[in-house]
Amino acid sequence: MPGDLLDAIGGTPMVELRRLAPSSAVRLYAKLEGANPTGSVKDRIARSMITEARASGALRPGQTIIEPSSGNTGISLALVGSLLGHPVRIVMPDNTTAERTQLLNLYRAEIVYSPGAEGSNGAIRLAQQMADADPTIYMPYQYGNPANPRAHEETTGPEILAVVPEIDVFVAGLGTGGTLTGVGHFLKRARPGVRIVAAEPLPGEEVQGLRSLDEGFVPPVLDQSVLDDRYLVSNRDALIGLRRLMRDEGIFAGLSCGAVVHVALRVAAEMESGNVVMLLADGGWKYLSTDLWTREIEELETELESSLLW
Ligand SMILES: Cc1ncc(COP(=O)(O)O)c(C=O)c1O
Repeated sequence: MPGDLLDAIGGTPMVELRRLAPSSAVRLYAKLEGANPTGSVKDRIARSMITEARASGALRPGQTIIEPSSGNTGISLALVGSLLGHPVRIVMPDNTTAERTQLLNLYRAEIVYSPGAEGSNGAIRLAQQMADADPTIYMPYQYGNPANPRAHEETTGPEILAVVPEIDVFVAGLGTGGTLTGVGHFLKRARPGVRIVAAEPLPGEEVQGLRSLDEGFVPPVLDQSVLDDRYLVSNRDALIGLRRLMRDEGIFAGLSCGAVVHVALRVAAEMESGNVVMLLADGGWKYLSTDLWTREIEELETELESSLLW
């Protein structure tokens, strides 16, 4: 018997990227988290954080939820909150895309904007102030909530290993670090020797959803001991990765996925053989109002051609 939409979270498709792979001996796979109900990997942690908080009594029936989010977690919490009867308030930088505002409105979430120039750290500060000032509201706090990495340890990791049991490298973007920590712990237990690789933006460069550890904030949920490598990605390389995903594999993804594919290709280029799995955190729909798909197209075409030499 089918369940409701919360039961439809996870179980996302895995596809092989044959056209992007540097050789037939190095195989690239992508887990398409855009296939989740609200279009991102964050549905997994919204469900786990809220169901665990309700089960423990930390979140009471009807209680308001507040969370800082650059967008995806906010939208996922808005869905889960609307299905389970919790009003949701999201603190979000004022320079995220219009689609995020539209979706949050559709799910009846309240939006509080923080200054865009302060990035996600500004949103975290403001949400913390609001939660401290009003003890009746509950903040799941994805950056510090163990239910975040646990969702990945219990669902994302096993799903990956079931489809690619011979995995050698796992690449994902670093935002809260929940994906890398949870999947990393699971895979390292199941397949010792697997490499866990983080894609981070260059300090000062904005890739929505990702953060650089070099900017001073290390999320409490991140277990840095699980990371074998960190690669810093420029905005430009993320954009090229995004356009190659679309052009070569037909995958319509968000900008952080461009950063992840860039890192996966760098890692793959250094391997003689093996299996690289990357996690693509969201679909492209929430970025359609941006110029990601049209920006500096001629120059980019030259880049795309020369990028084949990576
Ligand atoms: C678009 C996008 N990609 C990647 C990530 C990183 O995932 P995680 O928070 O599990 O590190 C996030 C969230 O922070 C995100 O919104």
